[in-house]
Amino acid sequence: MNESVFVKKTMDFSKKFCCRFIKKIYAFDELASTNLTAKELALHGSEEGTIVIAQTQRQGRGRFDRTWQSPKGGVYLSIILRPRTPIEKTSLLPFVAALAVTKAVLSYGIPARIKWPNDVLVHGKKIAGILLESETSGITVPYVVVGIGINLNTPLSKLDVDIRKRSTSLRKEHGASIKYYEFLDTLFQHFDRCYQLFSAGNFEQIIDEWKQHSDTLGKTIRVQTTKDMVQGTAIAIDQSGFLLIKTKEGNLIRVVSGDCIDFDDL
Ligand code: BTN
Repeated sequence: MNESVFVKKTMDFSKKFCCRFIKKIYAFDELASTNLTAKELALHGSEEGTIVIAQTQRQGRGRFDRTWQSPKGGVYLSIILRPRTPIEKTSLLPFVAALAVTKAVLSYGIPARIKWPNDVLVHGKKIAGILLESETSGITVPYVVVGIGINLNTPLSKLDVDIRKRSTSLRKEHGASIKYYEFLDTLFQHFDRCYQLFSAGNFEQIIDEWKQHSDTLGKTIRVQTTKDMVQGTAIAIDQSGFLLIKTKEGNLIRVVSGDCIDFDDL
């Protein structure tokens, strides 16, 4: 272990969260990346429900190797999961996380929507991002780290201009600062409920709830996959969470993962 033992833990976690799911919280003022520390902890045997939180990150990581800028005021945390569901169902975990974050934001009266697979948007601007990292070993997944970054009271002026114009924060949308620990408590409760659905095998309900909050279905979109660019109308997501796109030629394309842009953004 490197940073986990050397960095001073000074955040106040004397508060008890009302959530059975949480087993242990490692809280830091600063880390390179909560995902990196959580992965180390997972590799050293930390149990499901272990959470790593930092006030800021020096090297916050986003999807597609992007940087996740992490100034003070935001929420940066990673949750260790050890799913016991069949391996093919782990593709639904991004949906579980996106639902939990969306419900937490909605509980503040902020109209959050989900862009496939797991960006959380408000009025088309990003308020939260999720990065899942896992290890597979044969037919099992020993751990999944769910990294969540939320623009809570994030000073948007601290973000680079190109990111700032596509971002918003709970403070901006709510018109006042949000209490950090109160928000975490809300988020953990929603995560607990959504993950319980997953663990109990209620996969259809997860998909159905995700659809209710979708900002993608029915829209004309463009998805950059690792191989190519797919363009068309997002017509459905299937039981694995894969996106079905109907091209203008009438072909149906099933997209497993990719960066989704809707045409309003172009
Ligand atoms: C994205 O939208 O590209 C995903 C962003 C995920 C950011 C979070 S912040 C906490 C965790 N630690 C990281 O380094 N990344 C995730």
